[in-house]
Amino acid sequence: MNENNKIQKEYYDQDLANVWSYPEHYTSYEKANWKWGDFPFSNNLNGTDFYKIKIKSKLENISILEVGSAMGAAYNFLNNSNLIDLSNYTGIEVSKSGNEFCVNNYKKANWIHADFTKFNLSKKYDYSYERISVHHMAQPLVQYDKILSNTNIAASFSFRGCINGETISNINKACFFELDGKYYCNIINVFDVINVGLKNDFNDIRILFGGLHEPFIRDEEEAKKNRGNPYVSKEIDLESKHVSRFQVRLRKNKILKKPKIYVTGHPRTFIKYPLITLELINKIKKIKT
Ligand SMILES: C[S@@+](CC[C@H](N)C(=O)[O-])C[C@H]1O[C@@H](n2cnc3c(N)ncnc32)[C@H](O)[C@@H]1O
Repeated sequence: MNENNKIQKEYYDQDLANVWSYPEHYTSYEKANWKWGDFPFSNNLNGTDFYKIKIKSKLENISILEVGSAMGAAYNFLNNSNLIDLSNYTGIEVSKSGNEFCVNNYKKANWIHADFTKFNLSKKYDYSYERISVHHMAQPLVQYDKILSNTNIAASFSFRGCINGETISNINKACFFELDGKYYCNIINVFDVINVGLKNDFNDIRILFGGLHEPFIRDEEEAKKNRGNPYVSKEIDLESKHVSRFQVRLRKNKILKKPKIYVTGHPRTFIKYPLITLELINKIKKIKT
């Protein structure tokens, strides 16, 4: 067994449905706050979405996939808006308590109780999204590829990422400790995600730079005592990675002649991190499309 498989075995030897059913999962995610910017929807798919996104007219006859649907708060937001046709909505979630809650409370949607990393998508969806879920899973880029290769129109991902260096996905060296086990604290290079998007023919890619990530716990024993806080081993050099929060929105824009990749964010974030913003923009310019 190679080193990677050994590390992943630790993840898969656990009962993930339980690991993700710690008591606060229920309270944190039932009323989680969602806004239009967290979703891939748009009333103007061939236009440019700068910072603020708002849906004004109803999107009809669409299929939707949500990965890591937790307690269904995103579905609830969309349902209350009355602006999205939810007749073909699928949410995949590994948490036992999350899935049960959705099945009992939102009966019209299709809730799948599964570990997404082991789940084969058997059909395509018009819109797909995940928010801070894939960054807790094994092989995050494989999961993004799986989502994008099964998405027709647009997708949205939100994750803990970095600008430089390789994507980190190692449950021994970067994880969260929970009551019944642990899960990944991936640091996903935003350019790796862009490349997966380009490979899957997404030609309109918006990166929202959410600013630098707060410091991690670097000592394993301390992290075990601070359940639910992100741990990154001292062995991982974070110095020049610029670990940040990102959202990436990807679309298949029918009128673009060549791929367009651009950065957005709150002006305050750009003012606070001018050099990192510039580095991000310069790196985007160098992407071969
Ligand atoms: C940090 S929470 C985010 C919940 C929600 N997306 C939100 O933004 O409020 C991560 C979610 O992903 C789910 N998740 C983690 N690993 C998973 C896996 N391998 N398969 C399916 N769901 C998973 C967790 O159970 C949890 O509900």
